Amino acid sequence: MERFYLTTAIDYVNGAPHIGHAYEKILTDVIARHYSQRCDDVYFLTGTDEHGIKIQKTAAAQGKSPKELCDENSQKFKDAWKALDIDYTKFIRTTDDYHENAVQHIFDKLLKQGDIYKHSYEGLYCQGCECFLNPKDLTEDGLCPDHLKKPEVVKEENYFFRLSKYKDAIIKHIKEHPDFILPEFRANEVLNQLEDIQDISVSRAKSNVQWGIDVLGDDEQSIYVWIDALSNYITALGYDPENSSDDFKKYWPCDVHVIGKDILKFHSIYWPAFLMALDLPLPKHIFAHGWITIDETKMSKSLGNVVSPTSVLENFNMEYPDAFRYYMATSAPCGRDGNYSDDDFKEKVNAHLANSMGNLLNRTLSMLVKYFDGEVKAEFKLSCHPELVSGSNSLMKKAMGTVQIVKNHFDNFELAEAGLEIISLVDATNKYVQDNAPWTLAKEEKMIECGQVLTNVLDIMCVIAALIYPYCPNIARDMARQLSFDLNTKLDDLTTDNIKIGKLISKEDIKPVFLRLDSEFADKTSKK
Ligand code: MSP
Repeated sequence: MERFYLTTAIDYVNGAPHIGHAYEKILTDVIARHYSQRCDDVYFLTGTDEHGIKIQKTAAAQGKSPKELCDENSQKFKDAWKALDIDYTKFIRTTDDYHENAVQHIFDKLLKQGDIYKHSYEGLYCQGCECFLNPKDLTEDGLCPDHLKKPEVVKEENYFFRLSKYKDAIIKHIKEHPDFILPEFRANEVLNQLEDIQDISVSRAKSNVQWGIDVLGDDEQSIYVWIDALSNYITALGYDPENSSDDFKKYWPCDVHVIGKDILKFHSIYWPAFLMALDLPLPKHIFAHGWITIDETKMSKSLGNVVSPTSVLENFNMEYPDAFRYYMATSAPCGRDGNYSDDDFKEKVNAHLANSMGNLLNRTLSMLVKYFDGEVKAEFKLSCHPELVSGSNSLMKKAMGTVQIVKNHFDNFELAEAGLEIISLVDATNKYVQDNAPWTLAKEEKMIECGQVLTNVLDIMCVIAALIYPYCPNIARDMARQLSFDLNTKLDDLTTDNIKIGKLISKEDIKPVFLRLDSEFADKTSKK
């Protein structure tokens, strides 16, 4: 694997980021960091979606120009991603000049080649979805099923894209590539939607929507948000129908678009059709994640339960976002809905990160200092005394097996499942310590056995640090520092022989890598 290109959905900027937006960016960042442990070149794109009637109206209601609103809110997304250690390669804004120009050229090309045509139309427009809805998809009361609002009747002359022309090719692609849409159970949904797919409107009358990209050579129409928004995945790399950049040639097709289940239709039907019309290869995977609820309730402004990701970091006074990242990334089985609650968050990260993982490292290093002045002797190595202590080999086997299982899970974007495997390795290592009781071995003066147990555990802790790194990059760095382990080691180069012979650590350099969220120390910090 030479390079890996992945993207998130680009967020609407009519408000500040919430925990649902954060969930997706965390998932994508975890995937990006995992693949950076498997190949040298990962390109991670995110950004904001800034045009359309919704933004135009929100800006007007706040007495701002749309651009002012976009500048303000786009910055809030960037700030939140910084606080969450979302390490993207590029942040695209659909109001960036290069993007607007490329979208105009894309539209113009499709128009000239006959894939786009003008047509008079009357339809039901949902501002929340920024799209026309099929009357058969509305609720019994005639509301948009996602936004529970009545769509407005819009009668306009618009440009249309010949989506129906690509229907068969898309069905064929989905059927021939069972991993195109992930998780696989979502593919049927898309195939059903494809059954009665019609040509789609790709522009709006400027008399109704001014905040959009102009159609070249037509003063009365602006380009509709979805063709504008979806194109970000190629314009960010420098795509232009006339002249594509080296980055585009290098990174396209995309390895995975990470998106929410609500916008799967746009990504698995509209986007492939646009790409086919542009004669470009399709992305390898579209991964649709589920939705996050708050205390089991759908987030909504009217319920007042919208949670900002940075407020969670502040409320718990966390130095690093790691615990929140871990919790979110493991909050739901692949593609299913998840939930956030303060209590569950505290309980889970305390159990996994503090009690199981953090304590294991802390206790083991402390024993190494207590019994051996922090020194790893050559005779402690498993290779020196194979299986001196029972269960050593099987623990090592489990560790290497876990690396492979975690990789396999990531290939299907099963982040929660991979997380469980890592914690299961932590648990097995804790059990190994418990079973072999190095403190008893020391009391009985079986010092080589005792040293072997501790060294084996520290060897495994290096593997755990590498595996937990995508979720908890700061904790992993703290672990690696205390283990003198190089966290840049690629997963394929990982072994169970990581700890160097010689002095590893002194008492004063042992630091807990994660403090319980309700610990005395955390309480004191929060009172500062
Ligand atoms: N602008 C479009 C996407 C264009 S992509 C070419 C959009 N924006 S959005 O701000 O409404 O949503 C952005 C992403 O956040 C989507 O993938 C959406 O599914 C996700 N989420 C929004 N609320 C969410 C939750 N409550 N939970 C999880 N993800 C959710 O759609």
